[in-house]
Amino acid sequence: MTRAGTPVRDALDSATIPLTAAGCDTPRLDAEVLLAAALGISRLELITDSRRDVAGPAARVFMDSVRRRREREPVAYITGRKGFRHIELAVDRRVLIPRPETEFVVEAALSLPSGARVVDVGTGSGAIALALKHERPDLDVVATDVSEDALDVARHNALRLGLDVTFVAGDLWAGLEADAVVSNPPYVETGSRLMPDVGMFEPHGALFAGEDGLDVIRRLVAAPVPFLALEHGLGQADAIEALLREADFDDVSRVRDLAGIERVAVARREAAA
Ligand SMILES: C[S@@+](CC[C@H](N)C(=O)[O-])C[C@H]1O[C@@H](n2cnc3c(N)ncnc32)[C@H](O)[C@@H]1O
Repeated sequence: MTRAGTPVRDALDSATIPLTAAGCDTPRLDAEVLLAAALGISRLELITDSRRDVAGPAARVFMDSVRRRREREPVAYITGRKGFRHIELAVDRRVLIPRPETEFVVEAALSLPSGARVVDVGTGSGAIALALKHERPDLDVVATDVSEDALDVARHNALRLGLDVTFVAGDLWAGLEADAVVSNPPYVETGSRLMPDVGMFEPHGALFAGEDGLDVIRRLVAAPVPFLALEHGLGQADAIEALLREADFDDVSRVRDLAGIERVAVARREAAA
């Protein structure tokens, strides 16, 4: 009996070769995620059911996805979604793709007292604000961004996920009163060479922050709050701790990511009377 389409394994093999040649770091994984999305199934279903064939519209979607990935477009922009902690966010080129290390910012904020008012500065897709509201519905979560495009994406995510977060267009914490600020601000040194996936596709306003990458963080540490958790770049931990201490945070802890690299600073001080 002739088969209706290409067996999954052959489809994956024939995509992995060009993705490897294009310089993708994880070509097989990328092919699996793209094929699962084209078929409308999970990656687990894809790899556990090897009898499945790829044919018709799904085959065409997969071919187009592989073509885009060969041009180094990130997988999350191609599938239009990205998992972050326990939620799935819709993402497109208007927002940074949420990263696993940013999950530590959410984790730090889980210790906040019940009912605390939290501002997520530079919310992008809404990742931190929405994950936090999902895990701590008692918190009063507001999120800001200077990019109206990003706020559109974040509002759409909040609606889709049914999470009650308020979004505000504005600089930093936009003058809002809060008990805590959480943030993954831009912190890349302007002019840095980035992987093509990042530099060619992700919004530059979400990435670059001046010659030493600290332009936004230098202003962010002035937030008048007793709790501040922020992500920063590789090798910036000493500078960030110094900035936080100068800004009168007397308790500063440095959080390492899964690779053991310091990527998040959590700063506390007595609440003003
Ligand atoms: C690194 S992205 C982080 C996005 C999201 N929080 C995440 O972790 O996926 C930084 C975000 O900060 C926003 N941004 C840059 N400068 C800002 C400022 N001065 N005030 C508020 N938001 C800012 C950018 O538009 C971008 O959406």
